[in-house]
Amino acid sequence: MNVDYEQEMQALRVALQQRLEQLLPVGNQQDRVGEAMREGTLAAGKRIRPLLLLLTAKDLGCDPDKPGLLDLACAVEMIHAASLMLDDIPCMDNAMQRRGMPTIHRQYGESVAILAAIGLLSRAFGVVAEAQSLPHAFKTQVVTELSTAVGMQGLVQGQYRDLVEGRQARSAEAILLTNDLKTSRLFDATLQMAAIVADASVHARQRLRCFAQDLGLVFQLMDDLSDGVSGTGKDINQDSGKSTLVEMLGVDAVHQRLCEHLRSADEHLAIACNQGQSTRRFMRVWFDKQKTMFGLDWSLPEC
Ligand code: IPE
Ligand code: IPE
Ligand code: MG
Ligand code: MG
Ligand code: MG
Repeated sequence: MNVDYEQEMQALRVALQQRLEQLLPVGNQQDRVGEAMREGTLAAGKRIRPLLLLLTAKDLGCDPDKPGLLDLACAVEMIHAASLMLDDIPCMDNAMQRRGMPTIHRQYGESVAILAAIGLLSRAFGVVAEAQSLPHAFKTQVVTELSTAVGMQGLVQGQYRDLVEGRQARSAEAILLTNDLKTSRLFDATLQMAAIVADASVHARQRLRCFAQDLGLVFQLMDDLSDGVSGTGKDINQDSGKSTLVEMLGVDAVHQRLCEHLRSADEHLAIACNQGQSTRRFMRVWFDKQKTMFGLDWSLPEC
């Protein structure tokens, strides 16, 4: 493992953590909702989305220290954290553990978890509005991307489909569409935000959309594959009784699909970012780690 690379990633994680702490300050002792917002967001997540935003913006030629960039990355992480809180509540997945901790509704109660999620969504848009040194036109585009990713063309629709269709047999296409909505769309908005800040070409933006779609599918398939694995910080066998591609096609076929989407993702990324060294490397290192953890076998070409 390259020490410089690990140090660079660690520095980005620390910067994200510190900024998230500033953007979600400690309130008074009665402020249970604020506390839950902090707890759910600051807990040890992998920070894949905000890291992707920062690395892709850099690959697209944006100054990594550009004021406002870190705040956009934090806004994405807040939206993601809100989606996890809602996904975990009893009327959805009824999960016990998240990020190695008891889920937010178990710690604070269901009503606080719902309010904290709404608070985080709202705060995320506020952070975008207040982000320093970004032209208003850029912010408007960012808000459009994020609201699309969250709403009926994204997470909300995907979660709804997962809940109503997930307990019955459904086609592979239906599962893929749901995965795209609930997982790829936020990756899509994340990468478009990097492209907006970097003022990237229409061509690059289109390629990033393709990359996001493949990445989201890879990510959700990997999540489904890891359902029976301990040490993820989440409940084990949470998906039992649910129609996933793993349950429908079996591990080998899912593994095969995963490799195909991963290769396609890498190809789109290389074209979008003119070889996109930082983001491609991040992807390769991260997926290699997952491969080892889950005993899977795939590889990405060297950059
Ligand atoms: C979990 O996302 C939800 C899925 C899309 C499968 P992550 O695996 O990125 O969760 P954290 O942020 O590391 O907790
Ligand atoms: C939902 O998928 C992911 C979200 C977008 C919230 P899952 O329900 O499989 O996510 P985990 O496994 O609980 O993280
Ligand atoms: Mg779910
Ligand atoms: Mg879940
Ligand atoms: Mg899951």
